[in-house]
Amino acid sequence: MADQDDTRREAARRRGPLMAAGAIGATLGGAALGLGLVWVAGGIDTVPALLVLGIGAAAGFGLLRLRDRPGILPPEPSTNGPLDLDGAMRVSLESVLAVVERLPDPFLLIDAEGRVRLSNGPQHPIIAAALPGRHVSAALRNPEVLDAIAQAQRDGRARAVDYVSPVPYEQHILAHVARVRVGLPRRVEGAVRHDLTQAVIVVLHDLTALKRAEQLRADFVANASHELKTPLASLTGFIETLRGHARDDTEARERFLAIMLDQAGRMRRLIDDLLSLSRIELNEHVAPAGRVDMARLAETVVEAVTPLAEEERVDVVTQVSPEARAVIGERDELYQALQNLVDNAIKYGGDGGRVEITVAPAAPDALAAPRPGMMAVSVRDHGSGIPREHVPRLTERFYRVDAKRSRERGGTGLGLAIVKHIATRHRGALEIQSREGEGTVVTLYLPAAPPAPAPGTAA
Ligand SMILES: Nc1ncnc2c1ncn2[C@@H]1O[C@H](COP(=O)(O)OP(=O)(O)OP(=O)(O)O)[C@@H](O)[C@H]1O
Ligand SMILES: [Mg+2]
Repeated sequence: MADQDDTRREAARRRGPLMAAGAIGATLGGAALGLGLVWVAGGIDTVPALLVLGIGAAAGFGLLRLRDRPGILPPEPSTNGPLDLDGAMRVSLESVLAVVERLPDPFLLIDAEGRVRLSNGPQHPIIAAALPGRHVSAALRNPEVLDAIAQAQRDGRARAVDYVSPVPYEQHILAHVARVRVGLPRRVEGAVRHDLTQAVIVVLHDLTALKRAEQLRADFVANASHELKTPLASLTGFIETLRGHARDDTEARERFLAIMLDQAGRMRRLIDDLLSLSRIELNEHVAPAGRVDMARLAETVVEAVTPLAEEERVDVVTQVSPEARAVIGERDELYQALQNLVDNAIKYGGDGGRVEITVAPAAPDALAAPRPGMMAVSVRDHGSGIPREHVPRLTERFYRVDAKRSRERGGTGLGLAIVKHIATRHRGALEIQSREGEGTVVTLYLPAAPPAPAPGTAA
């Protein structure tokens, strides 16, 4: 906060002379306008009056434009006012500034005294405080980076420092530090001199997305192995028991074999889901081109879940809008997605007694629909709902609200992650809305297929 205040104060201080220049320009312009009006009133030609007016205004605006480059003022900061730069120098500086301004990564040039001489701070909030003339420690607070800058200045060796910047939000940064010999303009006894001097450049590279991906991958491997290890340990345990004291116990053997079959099934489901996920991810860049009638697909899903629905005493009903159209998609993937949603609604929301599948055009104000004119396939249950804080995380791999309950019901925690990838591959979207105590609606938005040609017409 204090930093931002400093930055604002500094910027205001720098704007002071600019505003003065503007004021002078405006005064000149105003005077010229007055003079022009007097001339016109006095019957004198208006051309010279307009000429004076133009020069006045141009002087003001020209001065403003040249100096109004927040964060990038290269000459040595001086208490004696700005430096006068000759034309050639100005052109080269403007070129360097234009390049620095457009660099995609935050950049700083630091002189031997540790002061910022050049930066693209205004474009990059992480170095917003890197105003020319300020000490680098005002912009970069990490001691290791500051140390690297000082060492590079001393020994000329380039280095890279990996650190976490807490402001403006937590970012993993790799700072590249290197010494360069550059000409920096300075004022010596009233004149401008351009001496070659040792400076240090710092380029900050944002590694946050990379680190996050790395973490996700590590978590994924850890979770997948954990999920496989549990049934495997159970299988091994039962095999040992069957070879040991249960060897001749027929009743125990039957019971244990049933459990083993169940555990093996769980491992198979997990492997199937993992393979599904990687296959869908692999094909994500290729949008499916088939045509799928979602109303008919919903009926097939209802048939497939009937045993589960009966067991849980849940009615599964389908409502199809007369405006419902086919979608562009791959049937097997859409079947897998819808089955998972209905399966979840029965397993986790079945206490509401009823699950509704709706196929209809997406509402025009549906925020989650990526484009207008999409179809919406919703699965609604009237169960206990999902606490708010869990909803955004449900599509993460292995994320479950109640891991024990999910496992007991044979869940792998990969279902919604798969559905999300299927939606993405179809250039659609997945939306989860839930209210505790009222139930959950999960909607799959999919691109509508063009109307089918009437039978008998040429395609
Ligand atoms: N309709 C629902 N009502 C309440 N909770 C739900 C609902 N749908 C999903 N959940 C919660 O979201 C979690 C993640 O669902 P997801 O489908 O990804 O995994 P799963 O059902 O546990 O396993 P799988 O789908 O692989 O069998 C579930 O474990 C459950 O806690
Ligand atoms: Mg599921």
